[in-house]
Amino acid sequence: MDMDIRPRRLRYNSVIRKMVRETRISPDSLILPLFIKDGNNIKSPISSLDGQYHYSVDRVCEAVDKALESGVNKLLLFGIPDHKDCEGSQAFAEDGVVQRGIREIKRQYGDDVYIITDVCMCEYTSHGHCGILDGQYVNNDKTLEYLAKISVSHAKAGADMVAPSDMMDARIAAIRHGLDQCGFENVPIMSYAAKYSSSFYGPFRDAAGSAPSFGDRKSYQMDYHNKKEALKEVKLDIAEGADIVMVKPALSYLDVINEVSKITDLPVAAYSVSGEYAMIKAAAKAGLIDEYSVMCESAVSIYRAGADILITYYAEELAKAISKGDIG
Ligand code: PBG
Repeated sequence: MDMDIRPRRLRYNSVIRKMVRETRISPDSLILPLFIKDGNNIKSPISSLDGQYHYSVDRVCEAVDKALESGVNKLLLFGIPDHKDCEGSQAFAEDGVVQRGIREIKRQYGDDVYIITDVCMCEYTSHGHCGILDGQYVNNDKTLEYLAKISVSHAKAGADMVAPSDMMDARIAAIRHGLDQCGFENVPIMSYAAKYSSSFYGPFRDAAGSAPSFGDRKSYQMDYHNKKEALKEVKLDIAEGADIVMVKPALSYLDVINEVSKITDLPVAAYSVSGEYAMIKAAAKAGLIDEYSVMCESAVSIYRAGADILITYYAEELAKAISKGDIG
C-alpha cells in the first residue's frame, strides 16, 4: 500500500494557523520608550519620530494613560534636561527630570506601571558623550561612579528597574554594588549588553538632543562587523550580575539576538530602535509599504530570532494587534 506522507495543510484554516504558531507574543513582554522633558505643559510631537511626543512631568500621565489603554504597562524612561554640563549633573539630581517623572507616575499609578529607566549620560552632558571625559576620551572608571550614582537616584525616586545603556566596561558590577549598598537589592538590571555603534540611533539623538558634539561612540559601542564580541559582552554582563540582557538595534542584528538567546538562560530583550521605527513610518508615508503589516512582521521576526522582550516605539500598536489576534 502506498503511504501518503505529505504533511497535512494545516495552514488552510486560520483557526488552526493560530494554534500551530511557533512564536508567541504577549503584550506583557512589550516596553514603550518615553521621553520626559524639563518644562511645563509640554506635549510636543517629535519630528524625527512620527507619532511619538515629548512630555513634561505635569503631562506625562497622558502618555501613561494611553499606554495602559492599549495594554502596555512597562515604560522605559529617557530624560531631556534643560541644563547640561560636563559631568551630566542633572542625571543624578534628586529633582532631575527623570526622577520627578518617576515620582509623578508612581504617585498616580503605583505598581500598575512598571518603570524602567535608561541609565546613561549622553542626554545630560554638554559634550553629548556617554561618560566623563578625559581630553577627547571617555574615562571608563570615573564614569562608573556616576552610573552607580544615577542608578541609585532612579531607584530612590521609585524606578522598578534600571537599564544602563552607556557600554562602559564593568558598569553592571559597579551599578549592582551601588544599588545593593543603598538597600536596592531588589531592583534588577536590564543591561544594554550588546549595543552596537549604529546609525539607526539617528532619530533618537535628534529627539533626545544627545548627538556627540565631536567624535563618535565607536570607542565604547560595538563594531557591527563583530558577533563573538557581542557574546563576550553578554557573558561579562551576566557574570557581573545582569538580570536581563539586551541586544540593540534589533532588525539588523537578528543573528546576534539568536546567538545570545542560545548562550544564556536569562531573558533576552531586543531594542527595535528609532531608525527602525522611522524607516517603517517613512516608507509607509511614501505609499511603499503597509505600515501595520510590516510592523507586525518585523516584531514577530525579532521574537522568532529569540527575543523574550521587545522595546519598541510601536509597543501600543503591537499590543492592539496582539489583542486582535493578528499576531501572538
Ligand atoms: C543612550 C541611548 C541611545 C539609545 C538608547 N539609549 C542613543 C545612543 O546610544 O546614541 C538609542 C535608542 C533609539 O535609537 O531608539 N545612550
